[in-house]
Amino acid sequence: RPARGISPGNIDPMVHGGGSPTYRDPVTRRGSALTSLLCALALTALTVSIAPSGQAQPAAVGSPAAAPRVINGDTGVAGQFPYLVPLLDARTYAKEGAFQAQFCGGTLTTPTTVVTAAHCVVAEESGEVTDPSDILIGFGHDLKSPGLRVVAVSAVTPSPAYQRRSAINDVAVLTLAEPVTDVPTLLPLSPEEAAAYLTPGAVLQVAGWGNVSTDGRQFPAIFKVGNLVLFPDSTCGGGESFVLNGVKFLGFGPGDADVASMLCAAGTTAAGKRVDSCQGDSGGPVIAGTGAAARLIGIVSWGEACASDYPGVYTRVPAEYSFLAEQGAATAKPPTVAPAITVTPASGAIDVSFTAAADGGVVATFAATALDPVTGVATNCFATPAPGKSTATCSIVGLANGTAYQVTGFSGSPLGNSPVTAAVAATPVPVPVAGDIRRAKMLGGGKVRFTVTASQDNGAALTANRVVCQVPRSDRGVKAGAITDGVANLTGMRAIKYVCFVQAANEFGTDSSDAVIVKVRR
Ligand code: ARG
Repeated sequence: RPARGISPGNIDPMVHGGGSPTYRDPVTRRGSALTSLLCALALTALTVSIAPSGQAQPAAVGSPAAAPRVINGDTGVAGQFPYLVPLLDARTYAKEGAFQAQFCGGTLTTPTTVVTAAHCVVAEESGEVTDPSDILIGFGHDLKSPGLRVVAVSAVTPSPAYQRRSAINDVAVLTLAEPVTDVPTLLPLSPEEAAAYLTPGAVLQVAGWGNVSTDGRQFPAIFKVGNLVLFPDSTCGGGESFVLNGVKFLGFGPGDADVASMLCAAGTTAAGKRVDSCQGDSGGPVIAGTGAAARLIGIVSWGEACASDYPGVYTRVPAEYSFLAEQGAATAKPPTVAPAITVTPASGAIDVSFTAAADGGVVATFAATALDPVTGVATNCFATPAPGKSTATCSIVGLANGTAYQVTGFSGSPLGNSPVTAAVAATPVPVPVAGDIRRAKMLGGGKVRFTVTASQDNGAALTANRVVCQVPRSDRGVKAGAITDGVANLTGMRAIKYVCFVQAANEFGTDSSDAVIVKVRR
């Protein structure tokens, strides 16, 4: 990887000197034409003639002032984004190791497919496609670790719709020579899910081993993570600018960015520095959603220099979904790991909350079962996570108080179900159900009259039934008044905002109603 050895200041004049907003450089990596030979292996002879190896060039006019430096990202940790892979030049890998050989990023989307950018594997000038034998896929977060695993590639398939000049449909699928079944995969975002994820301002992350310097070359051994925000489509082909945390970003015009196949995104640090991907990050993932709801939504494609006035531009994954599906790179798989469950006993019921495992599987429905070990009767509940969410809750009802049930759960999908969780014991008890506040009437002089619906004792006499008010987000200023005949009078209330709720208790437990906000007027 020649780029690593070259002193900073060797800046591609095409990128920095030619700094017109319309210039795009999907192929150039490492901030230099020189390095495109790594980005597109087939370009070697050509790029060497443009920028002879090791020849330092003066910083070009128009290069950005030294800016602190994925640019302004955080260092990744082992196990974070396990599906993020470095693409390695096989020849360089054999001679110099993974750190020198890394030229792009990619995402393991199924056990046999890595999704990357087409410009990582198609020569910009000739259109020649890199031979599979020239690429190895790394597995691990640290390019300098002797434990980094490498897997061979059996096929390189750029999208037939990829346009080299405009970088439209910048996507390719690399088929692995052997399946990698022990690394979690990341599902590409489907067109059906797109609306739920691609709202302007959505929180995104980009990760890669690319340049961390805006004015030179500095490459990390451990990948960097940049926190980004999805820009409105108007900035991504509509030419509109966008202000993020007080930092102004210019937009790309219709001649620059094609919003149908591209996404624009950038970030800012707390200190107001711009966060962006950079040369060497190409092909790597932009991720939205967390845990089991995480999806591959973008692929690092191009930008105007790095962390400049412009956002980074990413391949819009749902727009490439049919290509990915055809290549077997977007096959949804069933959940393979049981969800985490927490159970809360109620009266005649058990509430269950689920969190899906982040195993790359798609969860359609969670199911929970309460088994009465004596009678063998099983009672179920089902919960569907909202789009983009990996959690949900349901209540198993119709249970007997005092019976110790064994509760289990699993994640289900039409493709198959996860294993069942270990059983958790739960005994429904006749805890009360608190009534609700219907009305709060200001009586003046710090007195407020609450009208509430009846609390249910579920067969065990209430030991407390009252309205409680407190200062929001604290336990201070607590006022309480007992409920008699559906009415509670609270006195000594100050002219401030309170959160108020009904609290009912019996020997089995305490329940609180939903809180209402009460503004006290004198
Ligand atoms: N084309 C670059 C590569 O091959 C990625 C550039 C991303 N640039 C940006 N400013 N976001 O690595």
